[in-house]
Amino acid sequence: MGKVIHFLFCILISNSILSLAQEDCSSYNFRNNEIYATCVSLPVQNSNLHWNYHPTNGTVDVAYRHTGVSTSTWVAWALNLNGSGMLGAQALVALPNSNGSVQGYTSAVTSYGTGLQQSPLNFAVPAIRAERLNGDVLIHATLVLPGGRTSFNQVWQSGPVSNGAPGAHALGSENRNSLGTVDFITGQTGAGAAVGGSLLHRRNTHGVLNAVSWGILMPMGAMVARYVKVFKVANPAWFYIHIACQATAYGVGVAGWGTGLKLGSDSEGIKYTSHRNIGITLFVLGTLQVFALLLRPKPDNKYRKYWNIYHGGVGYTVIILAIINVFKGLDILDPEKKWKHAYIGVLISLGAIAAILEAFTWFIVLNRKKEEKQVNGAHGANGYGHSHGQPA
Ligand SMILES: *[C@@H]1O[C@H](CO)[C@@H](O)[C@H](O)[C@H]1NC(C)=O
Ligand SMILES: *[C@@H]1O[C@H](CO)[C@@H](O)[C@H](O)[C@H]1NC(C)=O
Ligand SMILES: *[C@@H]1O[C@H](CO)[C@@H](O)[C@H](O)[C@H]1NC(C)=O
Repeated sequence: MGKVIHFLFCILISNSILSLAQEDCSSYNFRNNEIYATCVSLPVQNSNLHWNYHPTNGTVDVAYRHTGVSTSTWVAWALNLNGSGMLGAQALVALPNSNGSVQGYTSAVTSYGTGLQQSPLNFAVPAIRAERLNGDVLIHATLVLPGGRTSFNQVWQSGPVSNGAPGAHALGSENRNSLGTVDFITGQTGAGAAVGGSLLHRRNTHGVLNAVSWGILMPMGAMVARYVKVFKVANPAWFYIHIACQATAYGVGVAGWGTGLKLGSDSEGIKYTSHRNIGITLFVLGTLQVFALLLRPKPDNKYRKYWNIYHGGVGYTVIILAIINVFKGLDILDPEKKWKHAYIGVLISLGAIAAILEAFTWFIVLNRKKEEKQVNGAHGANGYGHSHGQPA
């Protein structure tokens, strides 16, 4: 009980600190004493949206304010009329000039490769200007809201300026989560659009499936093959445990791989080349292992030795590539640090167990060899090695 109260207290304290740190947007004083009736602090990217909505003519005067912006950063805020996120965004852009002023213009985003070139929006913007003030960048604009609508998906973003033009923005979690809804009448905003939310959900599913299958189950299955078979009583049980482990890992892994392919085809314009290529290599090698199992020579076949080397070599390659790819995926997904720490913790535990079992295995094998020598010279079954009785 005490622990629970302590925990709740910690949450309370950290929440209060958070809300103190988050500046109240309504206390902001505009330079020309403009008064905006409504404002919201957007959840990520240090951004605020201020506005006056005029019901008589369906226009809204907005001021998008992005705080703490460097002089080599563009910022943009957009409504997305028919979709959500970046594609279809009707953007107001602020681009710094080399002379220190900031240029405000509109840009309709039609592709992920956009350079945010100036273009008209699919609603009228009778006025737009941008300014830089005490490290903040502000975009002031009047929007003629289309079709009497007052509720929209919104998206906002910032990125580097290269050669005087907007460059591609980063893909960290702040950049991916800067979307939501805004209602100019009620002043209500929602975080994350439905599409963005479900996309994030699918990315997480992809991450969990693959981290558990390729990243945890497969190394465990390999450890079973290497360390359990040394126990004579565990023969042939180790073989079936190994198969069960790897078959489960492969099944879940293929499902995870499929979600990755779908994510890739749904995220046109966003490419994680090395993560993708390693993933495809893993699928190919993993599938080879399944066929290798079906085609394995009998234990006393003279080629079995080479098959063992091949099977082990591909197996270790898969494990190393899988671990690398889990870390690459964690960097892309950029979840809370605790997930990366948890995975590192699992790897360290598996590594420690493997080290102990490795030492133990050598101890047993060497002991057995000694015994065998004492009993009948070099003849007899060796407890560890390539020819150890697998059911064929
Ligand atoms: C819309 O109406 C408001 C006040 O009702 C007025 O201040 C504003 O200039 C009008 N805007 C346009 C574009 O007509
Ligand atoms: C977006 O939806 C509006 C109606 O809400 C329609 O008039 C317009 O053509 C659509 N634009 C696109 C690009 O689909
Ligand atoms: C800065 O440069 C832009 C174009 O590069 C120009 O339109 C603007 O007038 C300049 N501003 C000042 C204060 O010189």
